[in-house]
Amino acid sequence: MKDSITSIANFQTKTSPRAYANSVVRFHHSFSFEDRVRAAEKAGWNVFQFPSAMLTGGDLLSDSGTTSLTLEQLSAMLLGDEAYGSNWGYFKLLERFEETFGISQNEWEVYLFHQGRSAEFALFNEISDKNSIIPSNGHFDTTHANIVGAQMEARNLYSNPEDVDPNFKGNINIQALEELLSNSDLNVPIVYTTITNNTGGGQPVSLENIRKASALCKKYKKPFFLDACRFAENAWFIKNREPNEKDRSVQEIIHETFSYCDGFTISLKKDGLSNMGGALLLKKESSFTEKYPKALNSIRDHQILVEGHPTYGGLTGRDIMVIAEGLKTVVTEEYLGSRISLVQQFGESLTSKGIPTLEPFGGHAVYIDIDKFFADTKLKREDFGGIALSALLLLKGIRLAELGAFAFGVFDPKTKKETFPKHNFLRAAIPRNKYEISDMNYVAECVGKLYEDRHKIPKAIPVYGRELSLRHFKARFELEYSA
Ligand code: F0G
Repeated sequence: MKDSITSIANFQTKTSPRAYANSVVRFHHSFSFEDRVRAAEKAGWNVFQFPSAMLTGGDLLSDSGTTSLTLEQLSAMLLGDEAYGSNWGYFKLLERFEETFGISQNEWEVYLFHQGRSAEFALFNEISDKNSIIPSNGHFDTTHANIVGAQMEARNLYSNPEDVDPNFKGNINIQALEELLSNSDLNVPIVYTTITNNTGGGQPVSLENIRKASALCKKYKKPFFLDACRFAENAWFIKNREPNEKDRSVQEIIHETFSYCDGFTISLKKDGLSNMGGALLLKKESSFTEKYPKALNSIRDHQILVEGHPTYGGLTGRDIMVIAEGLKTVVTEEYLGSRISLVQQFGESLTSKGIPTLEPFGGHAVYIDIDKFFADTKLKREDFGGIALSALLLLKGIRLAELGAFAFGVFDPKTKKETFPKHNFLRAAIPRNKYEISDMNYVAECVGKLYEDRHKIPKAIPVYGRELSLRHFKARFELEYSA
């Protein structure tokens, strides 16, 4: 029985990934189908626990920290200054932040962290207040968990499907935001907007939507924050999709975007084009510092306690050089054009095989719509088809991430019931500067074969960790055919 479950993934393909992107070359080792079955069983079919060396077909688990460094970045790394205080690269990075985001060092406080979530932790713990709500167009899972960990509610105000702009499906629901802010019984410390909206399908947010959200925040005297992980990709979409924006440079659009916010958190592992790094930036005089006058100092204390001296903030001098160089590349239209077109071509390759995806495609990933994928099969949401599909793809050396019924669902051990999120996606996130369309075609072919055979895809039964927080990182599964 076990063999027949895994045999569904044991098919021949016409395409294959490029050799040099392949772990076979990197690790001088080859892996058989059976090796992968054994490793996947050992990992409890949890993609996070599966050895990356076996992913010769494409590791699309995350676009975070997985970039290949450019030659310019590798060279800059050699100039990394590993001084304990005020390393040379720190000043370069501050200058680059000014150029990239259009902000002035005199007006902004910069806190470096080793990654985005530690910047979020610092911010949310500073403003922690029971019974308060932090709205967003879509909080990422760790952002959500950091808000909840600081005793607050993370509320996603997705756009209504009826009136969403199809080019900017990541927009925050302005009407819902105004209803929330105008209710004086509710406590809303800050308002967040994530660019691009990862949880909502990697979808961009329009400049018009950012302007409106920030104007509402001004009206109700609320600080407006950005989760700016993929700010450059978002600006590229604004330039190419928003009316009257095509003649402006990506850089100008980025400057306008950041001119509306009082602060932002950023994981530099995405559009910083680096393998590590994060930051929190706060405007020194803003509605935020008015409301939290001690924050600038106490966040600095927190940073010193957990990350080290403020001028390196958990990063090596080499990391800092890599980020300063990466931010230079990421805003170029040459880089962004080829990046976004790879994602689009991959998306088209999947849809040409009939695979249901979220369209239009976003900037960093293609999201397979799991509810539609299994719509004509016996699998229901509680059978976690997205987990089962990603489990079988491991056997072809491909890793995708379920961001749906399992990752964002919640199990109540008392009622034994699952509460499901709005979206049920399997995400194929493309690492930057690493893959070509030939690699992506192999992934599309394998997903396509499993789509043809979708009636044979087993259920994924969580056998450990179903009731845990952040359960997708910890759970173990068994695969089982439905009767
Ligand atoms: N915000 C967004 C929108 C993110 O996508 C992520 C990370 C974070 C914050 C946290 O940043 O990883 O540096 O601590 N997203 C990764 C992903 C993990 O795969 O989408 P971090």
